[in-house]
Amino acid sequence: MKKIIALILCVMTLTCLFTACGAKGKTLDEVKSAGKLTVATSPDFPPFESLEGDKVVGIEVDIMELVAKELGVELEIIEMDFDAVLLGVQSAKYDCGMSGITANDERKENMLFTTPYYNAAQVIVVKANSDIKGKADLDGKKVSVQTGTTADAGCTEAGYDVQAFAANADAKAALTTGKVDAWVVDNLTAQQMVGENDGLVILEEKMTDEPYAFAFAFGSEDLVAEIDAILEKLIADGTIEEIFENYGETYFKP
Ligand code: ARG
Repeated sequence: MKKIIALILCVMTLTCLFTACGAKGKTLDEVKSAGKLTVATSPDFPPFESLEGDKVVGIEVDIMELVAKELGVELEIIEMDFDAVLLGVQSAKYDCGMSGITANDERKENMLFTTPYYNAAQVIVVKANSDIKGKADLDGKKVSVQTGTTADAGCTEAGYDVQAFAANADAKAALTTGKVDAWVVDNLTAQQMVGENDGLVILEEKMTDEPYAFAFAFGSEDLVAEIDAILEKLIADGTIEEIFENYGETYFKP
């Protein structure tokens, strides 16, 4: 009997360790009494978040600043690689993930998402003289992606020869330096990161839909509901559209 109890306890402890059980996202009241919302971000994703000097700027920063103001709390932005954003949010190390995060079913098993505020798409970037004209030509090709992104998951699943980089700029550099044949990334970021003299082209074809939302840990359900109401208001009254326009982008409601 003792052995069985010991075994059960052992299994429970291990499950806890592996699922980060006990770490719960903050409730609305907890965030309000903390007086701040801690936001994890990978600022290598213009126009949504990028660095201007040592300041994180972008569409999502502007949106989250308004959200924090409505909640009556400070916004504390913490920088890290994209895969660390997802892990840090689901283990409730940070209150919120803000990183052009695609709200998909797989991720919804591990974290909460606000209502999507924008629908992006994945695109393929190649060298101007490439014979890759679309997805159908990627078989057997070397493809660079950012680690932990939907591009990483999708291209790996498709069986391409994937090279993943922690930083988005390195995924692009792998293409410009000829280490890979294509770079798969989200569309607005591709447009922002591909410069006139890079000798790169963005293919027309849209690989996937990428509904962007802000991520939270389980336990933050009431906080997410409150933020959803704020986001819906900002979408309805044209504020989000205006923010996109400030960055030279056209806004399409999701
Ligand atoms: N939308 C993609 C995803 O959720 C890419 C996001 C990359 N974001 C970033 N800040 N680097 O996987």
